[in-house]
Amino acid sequence: MVSYKELGLVNTKEMFAKAVKGGYAIPAFNFNTMEQMQAIVQAAVETKSPVIMQVSKGARNYANATIIRYMAQGAVEYAKELGCPNPQIVLHLDHGDTFELCKDCIDMGFSSVMIDGSSLPYEENIALAKKVVDYAHKYDVTVEAELGVLAGVEDEVSSAVSHYTKPEEVIDFSQRTGCDSLAISIGTSHGAYKFTPAQCTRDPKTGKLVPPPLAFDILHEIEKKLPGFPIVLHGSSSVPQDEVDTINKYGGKLPDAVGIPEEQLREASKSAVCKINIDSDSRLAMTAAIRKYLAENPSHFDPRQYLKPARENMKKMYIHKIVNVLGSNDKL
Ligand code: G3H
Ligand code: 13P
Ligand code: ZN
Repeated sequence: MVSYKELGLVNTKEMFAKAVKGGYAIPAFNFNTMEQMQAIVQAAVETKSPVIMQVSKGARNYANATIIRYMAQGAVEYAKELGCPNPQIVLHLDHGDTFELCKDCIDMGFSSVMIDGSSLPYEENIALAKKVVDYAHKYDVTVEAELGVLAGVEDEVSSAVSHYTKPEEVIDFSQRTGCDSLAISIGTSHGAYKFTPAQCTRDPKTGKLVPPPLAFDILHEIEKKLPGFPIVLHGSSSVPQDEVDTINKYGGKLPDAVGIPEEQLREASKSAVCKINIDSDSRLAMTAAIRKYLAENPSHFDPRQYLKPARENMKKMYIHKIVNVLGSNDKL
């Protein structure tokens, strides 16, 4: 067993309290590779931002659980080396689906875990989340739980709406689980295809898809029920059109990819939303840079040559999110 405290990591408690009070959100960036980790740390240090580095079950299987633990420790030491004496870095499990996985992560240095029982019946979601909370809190590890189901692109708008978090359930759920933060469903979803073209309108000038707005009325109702309680938004990539265009220009095929407009995330950040999850935008930034580099340099085959611009492009994106969307810069 290794405590996250020995690795120099922090849990989310203090940073969320400050973010809710200060009207900004903490970035939660997913990582699978060393380049993503380096870019996240560089961006956080340069902007003086707290940061959540999160790994899914799939990412942990991809990279290896032991390597992730040392990468997180490496991230802290790297931040110090870059000139940040007291970095605030959280290592968070994203979408943990069993008690055993959450426990394993806690035992291997995670400072925060998500238990995602959102697809379970209400009482089962509560029972599972409470079991994880009871274990995690013994070690001062914070827990995110989820209520409401994020829409899949295959859903019709009507069925997506029926999966929105029900504000009348949030008090009971948070009290009975003892969770430290709550992920809610208000219209975001995972991936680069958050809405079908049929769910969007088209901008008459550019021809680009304009997605329907998030359900801010539900968010505000939840805020009223749980004043000051940390709320989390998953599925919050914006799917930048320039990256999609670059990918398509250099051999990719992502027609009509669409994300959450940044103005809406900016608005959400000013509310009780204090953690915003971004994964797809990093994937797009990385893929766009690699496709471009390899198309322009067909004779190159040293991964460092194409991973360097990929890392730079992700770092630029992370800094943009921190400074221009979430507002977590200068909060260390
Ligand atoms: O919400 C899911 C994250 O984007 C992680 O995705 O399970 O493919 O690693 P993954
Ligand atoms: P995106 O697919 O919008 O980046 O969402 C990521 C996420 O919610 C990770 O949990
Ligand atoms: Zn998610």
